[in-house]
Amino acid sequence: MKVGELRPGMLLAQAVRDVNGRLLMGEGTCLTERFLGVLKAWGIAEVAVQGEKTCSLADAGDGLPESLAARAQEICAVRLSRCDLANPVVQDVFHLAVARVGHLLEKGAPLVPPTLAKPGDEGSDLAPLDMEQLATEDLPMDAMPEVLARLAQIMENPSASPAEAADIIQCDPGLAAKLLKMVNSPLYGFPQRIDTISRAVTIIGVQQLSALALGVTVMGVFRSIPKNLLDTRQFWLHSLACACGARALASALGLPNTERYFVGGLLHDVGQLFFFLHVPERARLVLAQVRATGESLQSAERRCLGADHGQAGGTLLAAWQLPASLVQAAACHHDPLAAPAPQDATIVHVADFIAEALHFGSNGQSVLAPLNTAALGMLHVPPGVAAQVAARIEEQLGQLESIFLGGS
Ligand SMILES: [Fe+2]
Ligand SMILES: [Fe+2]
Repeated sequence: MKVGELRPGMLLAQAVRDVNGRLLMGEGTCLTERFLGVLKAWGIAEVAVQGEKTCSLADAGDGLPESLAARAQEICAVRLSRCDLANPVVQDVFHLAVARVGHLLEKGAPLVPPTLAKPGDEGSDLAPLDMEQLATEDLPMDAMPEVLARLAQIMENPSASPAEAADIIQCDPGLAAKLLKMVNSPLYGFPQRIDTISRAVTIIGVQQLSALALGVTVMGVFRSIPKNLLDTRQFWLHSLACACGARALASALGLPNTERYFVGGLLHDVGQLFFFLHVPERARLVLAQVRATGESLQSAERRCLGADHGQAGGTLLAAWQLPASLVQAAACHHDPLAAPAPQDATIVHVADFIAEALHFGSNGQSVLAPLNTAALGMLHVPPGVAAQVAARIEEQLGQLESIFLGGS
């Protein structure tokens, strides 16, 4: 159909690319007024649309003042422009995101629609990093606390005793204190105070508490990244939101051992921190590119660094010999079907998408990586699950922030 004949609400039947073959809008994009303007500005003459099928997103933000709803819709439409908006879960997330962005705007948050511009070729001339070498040789040995390897062993050993787990955790008083704070918080809702790690291990479970301890320990490894390079608070807020969402999703699906998904979510973007630790200038260039052009984070990383943060995170966690479920969740959280056992990566992928779409923290993306609807289909999520996950994040993120990041 000719671009001049398009109407808002129509859905793209095929992705639209620029003359260089770069993706402008994904298949299934719901054409808003703004997108129609972008197509014209890029000189696109014709696009394929999905017949008479339209998306029902115009009512997103009902209940908000009209001008606020329109701005929130515009922001979310651009941020989710690579997604299949015909998918019911994506539509649910769009509605939730518009409502949340509307409230954030109401409170004065300086949110604006991301820029959609041609990505430059900055960084293309840089030599790709050797991930294996960085992960194994260039990291100082003390960057991987010994406690991490021992916790990983306990997580993988179903016959490990509570005393073994407690002994390891108690070696690190800071870790033990943080875990006690967590298990005594309303997040767990135990009627009586838990005063010792031994008791916490018995109540929460050996594998469960070891997984949490491992997550907290990894967070500590990256403590030294300067705030002028990366907004680490926003980064960890995003990771905590993803962690909390992954646990909520796993529990909505009736899966056991939900703390493992929490830790998978907590560490999913750790590859980004790895970049900031080793090649801070290049990592900063990537985020600047992503912000200025709306290019996907992974594609900018692959161009400027030779690998994306999923690959980097997976390589790092594998070099640290962490459990395969965590390695795969980090390595494949943007491409979950590439994981040998895709369930963990898919749960983290969905939680990551919801956390980022709803602005619970941020890892620096401006236009989100699309939700993989084929992977989502394999999870058989119940209807309304996105709202359930979002509600859990909203409810728990303040608590998690105060425990892990020291107050809001
Ligand atoms: Fe990511
Ligand atoms: Fe993420």
